[in-house]
Amino acid sequence: MDKKEISRRYFLEKASIGTASVMAVGAMPAFGFYSKKTDKPAIHGGQPVRTKGWPEWPIWNKDAEEDILSVLRSGNWYRFRGTKVEEFEKKYAELMGARRCLATASGTTALLVALHVLGIDAGDEVLVSPYTFIATYNVVFLSKALPVFVDTDQETFTMNPAKIEERITERTKAILPVHILGLPCDMDKINAIAKKHNLKVIEDACQAWLAEYQGKKCGTLGDLGCFSFQNSKHLPAGEGGAVIGNDDEIMDRCFSHHNCGRPYGSVKATSNYPVLGSNRRIQEFQAVILMSQMKRLKKDADTRLENAQYLTAKIKDIPGIFPYKLGEGATRSAYHLYPFRYKKEYFNNVPREKFLDSLRTEGIPCSGGYGPQNKDGLIEAALNSKSYKRLFSEDRLKKYREENHLPNNDQLCREAVLFQQNMLLGTKSDMDDIANAIVKVYENRDKLI
Ligand SMILES: Cc1ncc(COP(=O)(O)O)c(C=O)c1O
Repeated sequence: MDKKEISRRYFLEKASIGTASVMAVGAMPAFGFYSKKTDKPAIHGGQPVRTKGWPEWPIWNKDAEEDILSVLRSGNWYRFRGTKVEEFEKKYAELMGARRCLATASGTTALLVALHVLGIDAGDEVLVSPYTFIATYNVVFLSKALPVFVDTDQETFTMNPAKIEERITERTKAILPVHILGLPCDMDKINAIAKKHNLKVIEDACQAWLAEYQGKKCGTLGDLGCFSFQNSKHLPAGEGGAVIGNDDEIMDRCFSHHNCGRPYGSVKATSNYPVLGSNRRIQEFQAVILMSQMKRLKKDADTRLENAQYLTAKIKDIPGIFPYKLGEGATRSAYHLYPFRYKKEYFNNVPREKFLDSLRTEGIPCSGGYGPQNKDGLIEAALNSKSYKRLFSEDRLKKYREENHLPNNDQLCREAVLFQQNMLLGTKSDMDDIANAIVKVYENRDKLI
């Protein structure tokens, strides 16, 4: 079978399910690879498409070792006895195009600082993306507020702005959109709704370093933006995080709150501890690692972007494979994970778990991503707790339970397939392996059920 024949068949099959339209043959895309129909699937003992490993993560830059040792030897490990944290904050703010940056102990603490300083308090409600890491709404519960889930747009994997307004109540104080997997949310629409209803916007950009919306960095589009520098992240320091923002007074309050409530800038020294605070500080060592990792951030981001686009072009016409789409206004994704949706009806109803196992045995690590976390046990535990029963009326909690159904998010959770960012740091031939493995599984779909 030649290349064209495969593309034509895939294209027509893909067009034939879910859409009544028959497209012009002239519009057919061309695959850059061949099907090897005769290959036995690796899951049945055949030769895997790939036997080599994938790029490791994180990657240490040797030239930073002296700096780490010098901090170690100095004994100045704490931000107020060194200069590294401040130096990092200036550099990160500059990179992001934000006026200010506050480095924190983690992404979770960055979010907690942002919520606190923007006035999210017990009994408030915060609109959140359900398709996210658990930390996004853990922080809302930790603030004794109610995370109200807004259904997901399946094509972009992000909060669907069209579903926001129906979830607003008189208690709603903020929107917490998540640029999940590094895919930017539709921030113009989100900000317009926030403005109309007088809500704060806190961007969870914990997976979105250098992602852009209309040419501006994610994290600079709302009132405050939060980042994570945990080990798996594109800018890793083991643990770490940051809040960025443009309002000096708000950023002074962030600083003060993260430093036990001590005075800072416009938070005046009316007493030793003029505001409520906590210790959410980062260490000097982490700042040294971050500044070293920052040197590779942009180049790595370009490599991921190039490989992701190449991979998308290769797999987008395979029946049943629906790569992410960038939402309106999104100009650059960070690809913390590379996502697509797997529709089993095109694969002879091979369940996603079997598809994932098949890809893994072909040498392609992959996962099914996030589950429907709006149904996690912690939700009911919180709603049934003494404090939530005190803070919210019985009627409100009943309505919350009734509305906590997110059909689009549920389907996305059943269909998503994700590749880790380090795989995108490889070569075009690595991307060919991924595409070829998917084609091989597709070709063998009848044997997998
Ligand atoms: C979307 C999202 N939000 C928040 C966090 C929390 O960051 P951290 O693990 O640094 O506390 C993460 C971390 O994985 C994340 O992916």
